Parts: sequence; structure tokens; C-alpha cells
Amino acid sequence: MGTRLLGALLRLALLHLDTCLPQSILAQKTVFERNCRSEDCAADLQLQGQLLLSSIDEKTPYLALGAVKNISINISISNLGDDAYDANVSFNVSRELFFINMWQKEEMGISCELLESDFLKCSVGFPFMRSKSKYEFSVIFDTSHLSGEEEVLSFIITAQSGNTERAESLHDNTLTLMVPLMHEVDTSITGIVSPTSFVYGESVAAANFIQLEDLLCHFQPLNVTLQVYNTGPSTLPGASVSISLPNRLSPGGAEMFHVQEVVVGQEKGNCSFQKNPTPCIIPQEQENIFHTIFAFFTKSGRKVLDCEKPGITCLTMHCNLSALAREESRAIDIYMLLNTEILKKDSSSVIQFMTRAKVKVDPALRVVEIATGNPEEMVVVFEALHNLEPRGYVVGWIIAISLLVGILIFLLLAVLLWKMGFFRRRYKEIIEAEKNRKENEDNWDWVQKNQ
Ligand SMILES: *[C@@H]1O[C@H](CO)[C@@H](O)[C@H](O)[C@H]1NC(C)=O
Ligand SMILES: *[C@@H]1O[C@H](CO)[C@@H](O)[C@H](O)[C@H]1NC(C)=O
Ligand SMILES: *[C@@H]1O[C@H](CO)[C@@H](O)[C@H](O)[C@H]1NC(C)=O
Ligand SMILES: *[C@@H]1O[C@H](CO)[C@@H](O)[C@H](O)[C@H]1NC(C)=O
Ligand SMILES: *[C@@H]1O[C@H](CO)[C@@H](O)[C@H](O)[C@H]1NC(C)=O
Ligand SMILES: *[C@@H]1O[C@H](CO)[C@@H](O)[C@H](O)[C@H]1NC(C)=O
Ligand SMILES: *[C@@H]1O[C@H](CO)[C@@H](O)[C@H](O)[C@H]1NC(C)=O
Repeated sequence: MGTRLLGALLRLALLHLDTCLPQSILAQKTVFERNCRSEDCAADLQLQGQLLLSSIDEKTPYLALGAVKNISINISISNLGDDAYDANVSFNVSRELFFINMWQKEEMGISCELLESDFLKCSVGFPFMRSKSKYEFSVIFDTSHLSGEEEVLSFIITAQSGNTERAESLHDNTLTLMVPLMHEVDTSITGIVSPTSFVYGESVAAANFIQLEDLLCHFQPLNVTLQVYNTGPSTLPGASVSISLPNRLSPGGAEMFHVQEVVVGQEKGNCSFQKNPTPCIIPQEQENIFHTIFAFFTKSGRKVLDCEKPGITCLTMHCNLSALAREESRAIDIYMLLNTEILKKDSSSVIQFMTRAKVKVDPALRVVEIATGNPEEMVVVFEALHNLEPRGYVVGWIIAISLLVGILIFLLLAVLLWKMGFFRRRYKEIIEAEKNRKENEDNWDWVQKNQ
């Protein structure tokens, strides 16, 4: 404060001189007072500076929007020339920054003033900055209101004084400091399916299914709801979600799913998918009854359809999501129908469908995903269960074939036993036994008669 008051008094005195004395005398007096060492009394200001982010990790080469709350600029200004009058350092900054305060190492009479919302002036060493002196100070700006629309945050810092400065020493009077702005996000995705399992088969009531107008197929409705989260410090400017669903039981088979609609919550996104041109396909009945019976007996296995496995063809859907603020989520609803007629022809009793969804951020939008954050991928599983009730004519055939097989086995056994002489030996034994009995009886009779 003392130096400032002194400076003001000095300025008043100079002003007074200015009005009272002829110009020539004033010029001589001023030159004398300045006590210059060089001919032209030139100052030589030199600026040095450094940006300091308030983030935890000092090594990150960018400013993570939302994570960094403030930014400091360390400034060091030195004067290598003659005393510099009315020296000041000005900062041209982004309009989205707010000046918090200035901090100086020691009380050196530096004062800062915000001239415009994006222009800060700091007066150093008023009324003059001594030759060979060096001042250090920091200015702090609030970065929490940065929108991230600009790719870099830049500071144009200029040092000026009332003295002339030689052209060759002007290069270090301006300093441009820059830091890239990045969206640091932690995206994740979860999903649920309704229903998680359903039963199909010939004897399952048609009311459990949906029939589209003039189509014979029985469709199972399935709703998949995905939630995309952003738990990162920054707003996610945009993301894409890809969803894949196993669509065929075998590589050459018909498409099972008919996607009706994919809806993004609050209409904050668009989705695309391939429409099934022929949603209702009823595969040709395999007329061979043995095949059907075989299929029935082998209907015990579990089939897992997963797009990550080779040889599985999948239905893919893509969604582009618009901005997602931190701690917010966005829902994606998928309404689809599954053609159960195709399932009925399969030999598995349980078919598991693994639906995979993955959220990806666009690096072109200057987004970085926190590597140690939540997973960006997930699987939703639903199951189709066969009711395992054989169809009527299959039962008939099974009974008929069982009977036939039974009779065959019986005959085979009989022939086998006969061949082994089982019946013959037995007859002989019986006849012999009968003979013995008769003889015994006769003897008995004889004994009895003789008594
Ligand atoms: C700057 O941010 C850091 C970390 O967020 C905080 O500790 C510090 O108090 C802030 N400084 C000012 C001046 O707001
Ligand atoms: C700050 O810099 C910008 C761009 O370089 C310029 O358009 C603007 O006029 C400057 N502001 C001031 C107050 O000099
Ligand atoms: C920034 O400046 C302050 C004061 O001038 C000083 O204490 C601090 O060490 C400087 N920081 C760096 C990293 O240079
Ligand atoms: C800084 O000082 C110089 C010389 O005194 C002056 O011309 C200039 O206008 C000052 N800058 C600001 C922003 O006041
Ligand atoms: C699917 O969602 C629609 C609309 O919300 C609803 O009417 C239908 O009952 C749902 N179906 C299932 C199987 O959850
Ligand atoms: C979705 O499409 C509409 C109209 O085509 C467009 O206005 C909107 O910006 C798009 N949204 C996204 C996230 O792509
Ligand atoms: C999503 O964005 C990509 C790239 O901008 C574009 O090729 C694709 O058509 C978009 N998809 C939708 C459904 O808007």
C-alpha cells in the first residue's frame, strides 16, 4: 500500500511539472530521473510461465473437464534492461474461465484487475520495475464452467511497460500457454430382458404367443432394456452402442428375430437395425418319422447361442447417443419378436440366447475412457425351453415301434433258447420225471397191495 501511495504522489508531481514547465525542460528532467544505463533507456522484459492443473495426477497431458476445478499459472517476469515504468502483465483467457485470485511469493506490490471477463491485467512493480529485478506470482482461474466446446484452453500472456523495448528483445514478452481439453468419462452398460425364459412347443397354448396379422407364426415377444451410465467426471459428448443377438440356429437357417422397435429414452439418440424382410418362416417339416423320433429323443441338450462363438450369425443394432451428463443414464428399449416355429424344429430342449451390448466412446469427440473404470460390455441371457411333450402321432409311433421291438426281442429269445436245446432238455426231464413217478406209483401200489 505504501509504495502505491508513493507512486500516486510521484505521478501527481510529474503531472504538475507537465503543466507548469516547458516541454524541453520536462524531457531533460525525466531522462535524468529515469537514471538510464542505456542510450535509449530501453527495458527488456522477459516472461516465463507454467500451467499447473489441480488434478490429482500431475502427469496427465490434458485438462479433464469436470475433474480439474481450477488452474494456476505460475508467472515469472524479469527485467534485463533499464527500469521499466508502469510494467504490467495481461492475460487474455477463455470467457468460460473465472478469475479466482492472485498469489505472490512475497509482498511485491503486484495487483491484478479484471478489465473484461476474458482480460486480466496485473500491474507489476508500480511505479517502475527495477533493472535486473524478477517478480514471481501466480494467478488462479476457476475451470469448473468449461463446456469443452473448444479443443484447447489457451492463455495469451503479454508483458508491457511504458519504456521502449528493442525489437530483438520483444520475442519473450508474449507467452502462449495451452492445454488440451478432454472429456474424461467412465461409461458402463447394464441390461435386463423380459421374460428371461419362456416355454414353447406344440401343446403350449397359442395365447402365450403373438400372431401378426395374416401370418401363421407364433411369436414370443421379448423386451430388452439397456441402461448406459456415465460415472466419469466429465459429460459424455456422444457414444455409440452396438448390440448383437444370435439370429439363426444354424448357419444356413432362417432368421428367428423380428425387431419391431428400438427406442432411446427422451429421444436422445438414434438407432439402426436391419428389418427382417420375412419375419414368419415355418421351416419344412421333416417327413421322415425316424428323424422326428430321433429329434424327440435327443431333445435333451442345451444349446448356447453366442455371437462370440465362431459360425454364429448375428443380428446387430447400432445406436448413437447424444450427450450424457455425469452421473446420468440413458435407456435403450428393444422390442422384438422371436419366431417359435423355427425353435420347434430344433433338437435342443433348452436354447440360450446371449445378447451382447457394448458402449463405445468416440475418440474424435476428445473423449477418454477411464481405463480402470466400469466395464463397457455386458451380456443379457434369455432361454427358450421346450415343453418336452411329444406330439400325438409321435407317441403312437413310439408305442408301435416299442411293441414291435418288444415282440422281436421275445421271438429272438425264444429262438435262442430253442436253439440251445432248452425246451428239449426240459421235455426229456419232464418225461423222465413222469416215468419215474409212474414207476414209483406203481411200486407203491405194489407195496400197498402186498401189505
Ligand atoms: C483448486 O482445486 C484444488 C483441488 O480441487 C483445491 O484443493 C484448491 O483448494 C482449489 N483452489 C482454489 C483457489 O479454489
Ligand atoms: C483475446 O484474444 C482473442 C483471440 O486471440 C482476441 O480476439 C481478443 O480480442 C483478445 N481480447 C483482448 C481484450 O485483447
Ligand atoms: C509456482 O509458483 C509458486 C509461487 O511463485 C511457487 O511457490 C511454486 O513452487 C511454483 N510451482 C512450480 C511448479 O513451479
Ligand atoms: C500496460 O502498460 C502499458 C505501458 O504503460 C500500457 O500502454 C498498456 O495499456 C497497459 N496495459 C493495460 C492492459 O492496461
Ligand atoms: C414389452 O413392453 C411393452 C411396452 O412397454 C409391453 O406392453 C409388453 O407387455 C412388454 N412385453 C414383455 C414380454 O415384457
Ligand atoms: C437423431 O436423428 C434426428 C433426426 O434425424 C437428429 O435431429 C438428431 O440429432 C439425431 N440424434 C443423434 C444422437 O444422432
Ligand atoms: C451413428 O453415427 C455414425 C457415425 O457418425 C453414422 O455413420 C451412423 O449412420 C449413425 N447411426 C445412426 C443410427 O444415426
